[in-house]
Amino acid sequence: MGNNIEGKVVVITGASSGLGEATARRLSEEGATVVLGARRLDRLKTLVSEITGKGGKALAKATDVTQVAEVKALVDAAVKTYGRIDVIINNAGLMPQSPLERLKIDDWDRMIDVNIKGVLYGIAAALPYMKEQKSGHFINVSSVAGHKVRRGGVVYAATKHAVRVISEGLRQEVKPYNIRTTVISPGAVATELPNSMTEPDLAEGMQKFYEETAIPADSFARAVVFAMSQPEDVDVNEILFRPTRQEL
Ligand SMILES: NC(=O)c1ccc[n+]([C@@H]2O[C@H](COP(=O)([O-])OP(=O)(O)OC[C@H]3O[C@@H](n4cnc5c(N)ncnc54)[C@H](OP(=O)(O)O)[C@@H]3O)[C@@H](O)[C@H]2O)c1
Repeated sequence: MGNNIEGKVVVITGASSGLGEATARRLSEEGATVVLGARRLDRLKTLVSEITGKGGKALAKATDVTQVAEVKALVDAAVKTYGRIDVIINNAGLMPQSPLERLKIDDWDRMIDVNIKGVLYGIAAALPYMKEQKSGHFINVSSVAGHKVRRGGVVYAATKHAVRVISEGLRQEVKPYNIRTTVISPGAVATELPNSMTEPDLAEGMQKFYEETAIPADSFARAVVFAMSQPEDVDVNEILFRPTRQEL
């Protein structure tokens, strides 16, 4: 257990692309068993084949994080198959940004459902097991937008601020159970996230910003490795990172 990752059972939501996919690969290389949830089961299955083809252990389960029962089923599957859950990475998210005056209420609802409720459902699913085990690690994904609000991205920023608040509150509450909590706030990382923009005129600018600024998804995976690989009595609570070339 030299790296404190080998042998751990790690549930990752939003593992079908971007940060979740890169993290599944990286953690598997470090010896973790990964349990992958997202809606696109075909993509998860391809990733599982890749990982198991290299000798790793991985399981895929179709999961919509807006459905509390599906998130619970994902975590239950991890425990049923591998006997425990050591880490849950509440990563699934979307970013359909637009100014409030455009009244994109469906987008607001989806961001609240996935980015906030999805994280809470992950906590609800994993916490009882981690309490019982008296060990575990929550890794929640916020954003630079969880630290700064900018016009045009208010609701996304609100959801990512919420993730930080939930993570800090969780940190305090799980002290009696020897559970670690980390919130990771990335800047622009090259993933499919800009594709979740729904306003074509704004999507163009966002794509351009990502093309010019974003860094590879493994940057996030390395942050996860850093937090996980600390000795169990070290709890890395917050990581904020950006591309060196990103100003705000
Ligand atoms: N990339 C960045 O620059 C950046 C910066 C800061 C924060 N983040 C955060 O990082 C997280 C991951 O995003 P990403 O950049 O990797 O984007 P991405 O490539 O678009 O990945 C998003 C993931 O979330 C999943 N997802 C979306 N809705 C879901 C739902 N209802 N149920 C289950 N899974 C769902 C998607 O899978 P399915 O579509 O298959 O369900 C996909 O696997 C998000 O929380 C995002 O806000 C990203």
